[in-house]
Amino acid sequence: KVDNTLRPQKLDDYIGQTKAKGNLKVYIEAAKQRMESLDHVLFYGPPGLGKTTLAGIIANEMDVNMKVTSGPAIEKPGEMAAILNNLQEGDVLFVDEIHRLNRQVEELLYPAMEDFAIDIVIGKGSSAKSIRLDLPKFTLVGATTRAGMLTPPLRDRFGVVNRLEFYTVEELKEIICRSSDVFQVKIEEDGALELARRSRGTPRLANRLLKRVRDFAQVKYDGVITKEIADFALDLLEVDKLGLDNTDREILFTMINKFDGGPVGIETIATTIGEDSGTIEEVYEPYLVQTGLILRTPRGRVVSDVAYKHFGLRQEKLV
Ligand code: ADE
Repeated sequence: KVDNTLRPQKLDDYIGQTKAKGNLKVYIEAAKQRMESLDHVLFYGPPGLGKTTLAGIIANEMDVNMKVTSGPAIEKPGEMAAILNNLQEGDVLFVDEIHRLNRQVEELLYPAMEDFAIDIVIGKGSSAKSIRLDLPKFTLVGATTRAGMLTPPLRDRFGVVNRLEFYTVEELKEIICRSSDVFQVKIEEDGALELARRSRGTPRLANRLLKRVRDFAQVKYDGVITKEIADFALDLLEVDKLGLDNTDREILFTMINKFDGGPVGIETIATTIGEDSGTIEEVYEPYLVQTGLILRTPRGRVVSDVAYKHFGLRQEKLV
């Protein structure tokens, strides 16, 4: 399957996130030398930066299986107990969107993570008793777009915590060239660079845009991705020179037109454009802040000079 081979399987094939990668390399090697399972790992940061990929690499490098689930998928403690009980010694349990686990399920995880045991209550009323069930040693890899939404007791049970960062244009270019190899599509240096520039620092988006640009190259041209084709296709996809999409522009235009560039609160922006405020905060805003288009102030979000310049505006209103 294409999407699986797009994900690197080894730490050495993983491009970018040098800090997280360097740390993990040491922890993995140390755990392997001691023939122990790896300590629990938390990844946090904006979507599409490689949290799932890194979890897979950890399992692969540790030579264990990975079970995948997510916060919203597990409704009852019993479901989590069953998953934990079915793990093999050393396995990785990847829990995506871990901040969305409900309280009861989360509380079951505390002894599971700390002592590799869970307490189950059997029976009801006066005859109810609690028995302790030992679990195989395992590595919990948690992923979240918002570390701030994890409860402290859960966060504190992760021995390794990594914040994933946006990728540089150079790193993205390298990923795009690697993916082009996987797709067996020819790409020129300039074409890869243009795609990298417009990928919002995000490999998932880079790979998605690469697929679409490849379609144009194949159907309308001779199959080679040049800068000209990348520009043509990306303009058609309404991804601008900074990688902004329609929602990004809607956020910025709303702030400029309706709120004089701010300061304005995230809830107000969300209501005005009819988006969920959590989505704006987790998915859209991080890149807008990273690129300096939006500034966060104590009184709310403000549109920066960089944004006005990007849209060719001087503090005047858009139509
Ligand atoms: N594909 C997606 N993300 C990647 C990364 N960080 N390194 C290499 N290939 C990737």
